[in-house]
Amino acid sequence: MTTEIDVSKVASDARRVLGGNRQHGVSEWGGREYDFVCPSPGSYPFQWLWDSCFHAIALLTVDPELAKQEIRCMLQGAQPDGFIPHMLLWQKEHHPAALTEYSIVLASQYYTATVQPPVIARAIWRVYQATKDRDFLLEVLPAAMRFFRWLKAYRDPDDDQLIAIIQPDESGLDASPKYDVLMGLADAPPEQVLTRLRDGMQRLFSAYKAHREDPARLLALDLFNWEDVMVNTIYADGLQLLGGLCREAGYPSTEAAEFERRARRVLSALEEKCWDERSGVFWDLHGYEEQRAHTLTFTSLFPLVLDSLDRHMVWRLVEEHLLNEREFWLPYPVPSVAASEPSFDPAYRANVTWRGPSWVNVNYYLYWGLRAHGYRDVASELAKRTVQMVGTGGMREFFNPYTAAGQGARDFGWTALVLDLIHAETWGCGCTHEEKSAHLEPFTR
Ligand code: GLC
Repeated sequence: MTTEIDVSKVASDARRVLGGNRQHGVSEWGGREYDFVCPSPGSYPFQWLWDSCFHAIALLTVDPELAKQEIRCMLQGAQPDGFIPHMLLWQKEHHPAALTEYSIVLASQYYTATVQPPVIARAIWRVYQATKDRDFLLEVLPAAMRFFRWLKAYRDPDDDQLIAIIQPDESGLDASPKYDVLMGLADAPPEQVLTRLRDGMQRLFSAYKAHREDPARLLALDLFNWEDVMVNTIYADGLQLLGGLCREAGYPSTEAAEFERRARRVLSALEEKCWDERSGVFWDLHGYEEQRAHTLTFTSLFPLVLDSLDRHMVWRLVEEHLLNEREFWLPYPVPSVAASEPSFDPAYRANVTWRGPSWVNVNYYLYWGLRAHGYRDVASELAKRTVQMVGTGGMREFFNPYTAAGQGARDFGWTALVLDLIHAETWGCGCTHEEKSAHLEPFTR
C-alpha cells in the first residue's frame, strides 16, 4: 500500500458523520425522547442495535457523554423479559417508506420482533473502561444482563451453548451467501439475488406469523435455525465482559462467575462443534441436524476476537486464511466473503450487502483480536489499510476490497469506528492522553 492518506482528514470526516447523523426529538411512541446517531440519514434513519453499539464506541473519541447517550437511548427499547429489538423506529414520519423498503416484522409499531448481535456488552465495557463512571454502569448493566439471559432462554433450545438466529438479518449480515442454502438462493445469478432474497424472507415471515407470540416456537419450526459463528463469538465476548462488569459493579461474585463460565462454554462449543481441523476455519451450523455451512466468509475467522481461543486455531486462522491473498488478504481487507468463493461479489453487482466488500466494523473487531493474540504488526497493517480505504472511498457503508471504492449508503455511522483504530494506533489527530490510554490499557478479565 503506497497511497498517501491524510489521517486527520479521515478522522474529521468520521466526526462530521457522527455529528451529522444525530437524530433527536420526541417520539409519538409514548412521548419518549430520542437522541442517537442513525446509520445513514438517507438510507437508515432509525436506531439499529449493533450500529448504535459501534457508534457508542466511536463516540468515545469525540465525547464519552454522547457514547453514554447512545446506549441509554437504545435501552429505552429493552423489554421487561430482556428482549432488545434489532431496530427502534422512533420517527413515525419515516415509517411508510421503511415498511415498503425493508423486509422486517414489527413487534410493535415502533420496534422489530427480531434481535441483532449483542455488541451491547462490549459497548458498555468500552464506555466504562474509558470513563470509570460507575453510576452509568449501574444504570445500564441490568438491561444488558437481561438481554444475554433472554438469548440463553429463547435462542438455545438444544442447550448446546450456541445461540441460534431465526432469519438472516438477525446476524446483521443480511444477504451473506452463507445463508443462500436456506433462503432459496443457491446459484442465483447476481441480478436475481435481491428479489429471491425478498421472497425468501416473505416465506419465513408467513410461516412464523401464527407463532410470533411464543418466541421459542419459531426455532422449533426448524425453517431458519442458524448457529452463526460471528453471532456466537460476539455472544461469548459479551458474556466474558459482563462477568468483569458485574465485579466492577459490586454484584455477587456468583453472578460474575455465571457469565464467565457461560463464556467459556460458548467458546468450547465453538471449538468443538464449529472448528474444522481439515480446513483450519470455523463453520456455522444450521438446522436440527447441525449441518455445517461451508461458505468461506469472514465469520469463519471471527473467533480470533476471543482472547482465550486455542493458540493452534489462532495460528491457522491468521497464517492460512487471514493473510492468504487468494482468500482474505486483499489490497483492502477484510472482504466479507473470501475471494475464492463463487459467490464473491466485490463490486456489489448483486446490489445486496455482505457478499464481498469490506466493512469497518469487521476490521475493528479483528484488529483487537489480532492484538490480543500478539499479532501487533498484522493488526497495525489492517488498521493502516482500513484508514486508507476510508480515506479513498469516503464514509461509505462498505468498500470494494480491490480498489477501496465506496459502496452502499453514504455518510455511514459505523465507518466512524476508524476513529477507534486511529486512536489505538496513536497516529495523532489531537486525541488526549486520557483517550489514548483508555484505548490501549488492557482490561483485566
Ligand atoms: C444493513 C446491514 C445491517 C445494519 C443495517 C443498518 O441492513 O446489513 O448489519 O445493521 O444495514 O446499518
